[in-house]
Amino acid sequence: MPVPSNVKQRLSPLAEDILKGFSAEEKYIPSKYFYDDEGSRLFQKIMEMPEYYLTRSEMEILSVQSADIASALQFEEPFNIVELGAGDAQKTQELLKYLVHQQVDFTYIPIDISEEAMQQLQQKLHTSLPGLQVQPEVGDYFSILKGMDFSGRSNLFLFLGSNIGNYEPDDAKVLLGMLYSHMQPGDKLLIGFDLQKAPSVIHNAYDDPHGVTRSFNLNLLHRINRELEADMVVDQFDFYCFYNPFNGEVRSVLVSLVEQEVTVGALQQSFHFSPNEIIRTELSKKYTLTEIENLAQACGYRVEKHFYDHNHYFTDSLWRKE
Ligand code: AVI
Repeated sequence: MPVPSNVKQRLSPLAEDILKGFSAEEKYIPSKYFYDDEGSRLFQKIMEMPEYYLTRSEMEILSVQSADIASALQFEEPFNIVELGAGDAQKTQELLKYLVHQQVDFTYIPIDISEEAMQQLQQKLHTSLPGLQVQPEVGDYFSILKGMDFSGRSNLFLFLGSNIGNYEPDDAKVLLGMLYSHMQPGDKLLIGFDLQKAPSVIHNAYDDPHGVTRSFNLNLLHRINRELEADMVVDQFDFYCFYNPFNGEVRSVLVSLVEQEVTVGALQQSFHFSPNEIIRTELSKKYTLTEIENLAQACGYRVEKHFYDHNHYFTDSLWRKE
């Protein structure tokens, strides 16, 4: 049944995306909706789990190799460091600290959708690195980048945390191509990739024994109930995820355990779920070095250097726009 036009006119972005996702032949919920307050708290817990090696691996790279990263830049000063999706910038702070202590002249421009996160970050950096020039920007990456003039200075863009792994490969190309169009020749991008490794290591990071990733996924249903006046019975769904070592993809899904009808009040519409029907929630792609090279090349970048953690689980890859 189509959504009445008076309802359609005032749909929130979440409502619009749930309408699309629940009406699709293979149902899905876009993974960006994981991060409401509860979801962000659960993601914080995921990052603290011993099985979730990604955050620790990248933290090691940025703290142990900050001098090597800085010397690989070969920028004239002053330059900018522009971070996409900076959040609390916990890992980035390691690199910033090194540069400030070396008295390097640069401005840090963190970009994030959350105003609160940017205010807190500015305060935190003001205390921990008082000499640092910070210019936070609130909004989505590309509207901010469009409105900024980066010419006249070299720019290092940061896209850390394996966030690129949450994009379908074609979407990753589009995103990196758009970023390329905002860069000047000689600008660089430091981008985090989780590498393919022993399948059991990857599997345990996502199908974790503590059930935190399960709660993280089920929170999507609580969020839909809370924000869209829906009546999803969360116990009637289960979380499932699997790693496919042939293509490097971790796919996370929610499974409807019974035949059920769900009503979403904000859409004035019901959706049918068959027993065992799945809702896709997330892709967490693990890359090979060849795939990284190919992705860079397809978008016009040259890979300059990989910075690995000691396990070679993760790389922060430095790319240059020619
Ligand atoms: C944010 N992103 C890189 C995480 C990942 O590993 O794909 C989100 C996540 N999903 C489950 N655990 C962590």
